[in-house]
Amino acid sequence: MNKDISNYTVSIQYDRRLYQEDILASKVHSKMLAKQGIIPKRDSEIICEGLDVISNEIQNETFPWKSELEDIHMNIEARLKEKVGSLAGKLHTARSRNDQVATDMRMFCKKSCIQSLELLTSLQSCILNRAEEHSGLIMSGYTHLQKAQPVLFAHHMLAYFQMLERDKLRFRGCYDTSDVLPLGSGALGGVPYPIDRSFVASKLGFKRISANSMDAVSDRDYLIEYQLAASICMMHLSRLAEELILWSSQEFGYITLDATHTTGSSIMPQKRNPDYAEIARGKTGRVYGNLISILTTLKGLPLTYNRDMQEDKEGHFDSVDTLNQTLRVFCAMIGNMTVNADKITRAAETGQMLATDVADYLVSKGLPFREAHTIVSKICDYARDNKKEVHSLSLKEYKKFSQTFDGDVLLINLKSSVESRDVVGGTAPNRVSNAIKEARQQLEVSDE
Ligand code: ARG
Repeated sequence: MNKDISNYTVSIQYDRRLYQEDILASKVHSKMLAKQGIIPKRDSEIICEGLDVISNEIQNETFPWKSELEDIHMNIEARLKEKVGSLAGKLHTARSRNDQVATDMRMFCKKSCIQSLELLTSLQSCILNRAEEHSGLIMSGYTHLQKAQPVLFAHHMLAYFQMLERDKLRFRGCYDTSDVLPLGSGALGGVPYPIDRSFVASKLGFKRISANSMDAVSDRDYLIEYQLAASICMMHLSRLAEELILWSSQEFGYITLDATHTTGSSIMPQKRNPDYAEIARGKTGRVYGNLISILTTLKGLPLTYNRDMQEDKEGHFDSVDTLNQTLRVFCAMIGNMTVNADKITRAAETGQMLATDVADYLVSKGLPFREAHTIVSKICDYARDNKKEVHSLSLKEYKKFSQTFDGDVLLINLKSSVESRDVVGGTAPNRVSNAIKEARQQLEVSDE
């Protein structure tokens, strides 16, 4: 056949990434066959030794990959035959490539979840460190990207801590869904040998054994779950990326990204473009693409195994690499950025940030909130027209709008504003310092 066409079914260029899983599962499978008296013990030992040699060859990059053998399973099996002769053929007793590949992918997916979980924890800890370092810093909080109310910078950072905490829940869930052994399902209906699936499950670290062989060889839900968790996590990171981009602009100047995470322009000498954050924001799209891709590949597939399912791999590898690399980049970017505290505080002093506090003040003196809102709205117009801030008006000026105002209105400032938001989940400094403590404890638990 024309090589261009015959290559169409080949997956070895990417599925070689499964070699450790494939070899480990094969060794355990052959040990189980020997234990059950299905193949002689000596044969199993020879097979396992041969597989170890192959594993070394792959690690040392001396393995002779052959694309005509299509995939990782056939490459390893054919090489085993070269090493140990025809008894290599006994390895595939009571097994099909369908339950073999399903097993490899589940093992790989569990590993992917653990890697992503570890990196998520590292990023959470980077975020927490910066929050703690600036625990008293007040900044403008925004809605509609318009200045809204003062909040603590730490409170803003901890919002991302919470998003990543939910991401971790999803990856833990995916780990759990993946933690089911398909091996023993054969091609689709099970195998006609007295195998011991519990032995294989425990040696390969699977918590459960699949309950239906047809489902076991067709199911790729766990890969969809990884893609979904990765997509949501990338969405969170893209929002953080967007804020870093905005905050590092000249207009904001809240942070300065480390020079290692910016690049110059080929024409404009002054430029320090936030390319790392922008690429992270951009890469979100490809991970969403991988999610849609696996969903679409599986849609409408009849039971059981169909070759379409080979298309599950590249997207998975790509999302794992993209997400994990992005998490590493964020750790470095957050850890090394300069927080321009002065600029952040100065920005919070303008924009009528304390208007809500003045309205709340009137409520504390007995006015209904709606009425207070109307009065303060007029005060804001006045302040803007006169290039002043509501919190810098004199008592005389306040009194022009309502006789309810007293001298204590002049005590309203950024600090009193954040302190007043003393509710569970609020931005009051004592609440935020508790939140920091709780976050530390959560990280210690996830380290275990
Ligand atoms: N390379 C294949 C895949 O990844 C392995 C399973 C092949 N099974 C089959 N019946 N052709 O899906």
